[in-house]
Amino acid sequence: MKHVLFIDQTPSGVATMQRAKENGHRVTYIRSPEVRALSNAGDSNADVEIESDTSSVKELTGTMGRIHKEHPVTAVINSRDASIEYTAVACAQLGISFTAAVGVQNARNKARARQVLAAAGVDVPRFAVTTHLDEFAGLARSVGYPLVIKPACGYGSLLCYRADSLLELRMVIEKLRHEEAQLPASWRHIVGGGYLLEEWVEGEVVSIQMAVVSGHKEALAVTGRTTTAEDACIGLGSVVPVSLPRKVGSDCIAHAGEVCEALGLDLGVFDIEIAIGARGPVVVDANPRRMGGEVLSAFELATGVNFHDLLLETYSGQMPNCTRMRNDGFVVVRKMLPRFDAHVGEVFNLEKIATMRECKKFVNYGIQAGRRVKRLEVLARALLHGSTVASALSAAEILTLRLEEEIGLSLVHGPNASQLKR
Ligand SMILES: Nc1ncnc2c1ncn2[C@@H]1O[C@H](COP(=O)(O)OP(=O)(O)OP(=O)(O)O)[C@@H](O)[C@H]1O
Ligand SMILES: [Mg+2]
Repeated sequence: MKHVLFIDQTPSGVATMQRAKENGHRVTYIRSPEVRALSNAGDSNADVEIESDTSSVKELTGTMGRIHKEHPVTAVINSRDASIEYTAVACAQLGISFTAAVGVQNARNKARARQVLAAAGVDVPRFAVTTHLDEFAGLARSVGYPLVIKPACGYGSLLCYRADSLLELRMVIEKLRHEEAQLPASWRHIVGGGYLLEEWVEGEVVSIQMAVVSGHKEALAVTGRTTTAEDACIGLGSVVPVSLPRKVGSDCIAHAGEVCEALGLDLGVFDIEIAIGARGPVVVDANPRRMGGEVLSAFELATGVNFHDLLLETYSGQMPNCTRMRNDGFVVVRKMLPRFDAHVGEVFNLEKIATMRECKKFVNYGIQAGRRVKRLEVLARALLHGSTVASALSAAEILTLRLEEEIGLSLVHGPNASQLKR
C-alpha cells in the first residue's frame, strides 16, 4: 500500500484521489480554505483530510512534515497552478519525492522558462518581458507582429491576447488596464511577474503529456487544441488524440522532452504546449502539471486507459505502463461559453442535449434557470465521441447549436470540421 498525499485538488484531481482509494492506497488530502470554498468536486474519500494554507510554504511544510512523520509519504500529487510551486518547495525541504522545486519555478514563470530554455539552446518564440504597459509598443517592435501578450505567471488564458498590429496592441493595452483594475485580490499575483510579449507562432497547437521518471521520458498523450472562431488565444477545448504525420509527431515529442530536461521537470506528468510552426515544433507553454479537467475522461474514452492510474504510477516513481492503450476513436472536449453577458432562459431541458448519441459526458457548471452569466464563463463541458476527428467536431457544433436554442443564449462556436486540416 502506498501513502499518496494530495494537495489542493481540482474536481478532476478529486477523481484521482478516488482512484487511489480504489487501488487500495492510503490517501491524505491537504486543502486550502480557498479550494474548500470553491469545491463542488464531491467526496474525496480521503482517509485523512486537513485544512491548511497551501500558499504559505512554512505552514504547508509544517503540516506535511507531521503527516510524513506519522505515515511516510510515497507520492505527492498537486495539479493546481496556484499552489504547485509551494508544494514543490515543501517537498524539497522534507526530502519527499516530487518535481524539483526549481523545475516547477522555472515552468510557473513563463518569462523565466523562455530564458532558461533559450540558454539551453531549445527553440522558443522571440520574446520580451516588462512590468509596464507603457513599454509594450517599444518592445513589440523587437518581437514583431503578430504577437501574443500573456502574464508571465498566468494560467487559464487569463489576460492573454493576440495583437496583429500596433493598433490592436493599443486596444489590448486598454483592455489590460481595465481588466487589471478589476482583478480580485486573490488573482493579483498573476500580473505580479509582469507580461511577456511573444512572437505568435503560426501553426497547429498540440499538447504533449510527458511522463518523466528517473531520467526516462514517455509521451502519454498527444492532444490537439481548438480555439474560438473569434480569438485564437481563447481555448475552446481539446481533441484526443490528435493524429500527426509520424515525423512531426516524433519531433514534437523530442522537443517536449528537451523542454522538460532544460527546465528541470524531473518527476511527474507535464503538459507541454507546442505550436508546429514553419521552423518545426516550438514550445509556447510548459506546465509543471498534467493536462486539465475533462481531458482525462476524454483520454479514457479514446484509449481505454484510466489516466489517474498513469498519474499515480508516475508520482510513485514508476514509469507508467502504456502498452494497455488501444485506439477507440476520437473525443472532442468542448467548453460551452456565452458570447456576451446574458441571462439563461427560464425554461429548458438539458436531458435532450445530453442524450445525443455522440455525447458521452455533459458537465454542467453554471446553467441554471434565469441565472446571469458572464461572457466567456465556462457554463458546461461536453465530451463528444466520433470515429474520426471531423465527426466528433461536427457533433460538438451540433450540440452547441442545440444548447443555444434550448437555454436561449448565444454561445461561442469553434472551427467547424471542414476547417481542420486532419
Ligand atoms: N507564441 C504563441 N504562438 C502561437 N500560439 C500561442 C502562443 N502563445 C500562446 N498561444 C496559444 O494561446 C494559448 C494560451 O496561451 P498560454 O498557454 O501561454 O496561456 P495560459 O494562461 O497557460 O492558458 P491555458 O491555460 O489556456 O493554456 C496556447 O495554448 C496556444 O494555443
Ligand atoms: Mg497554457
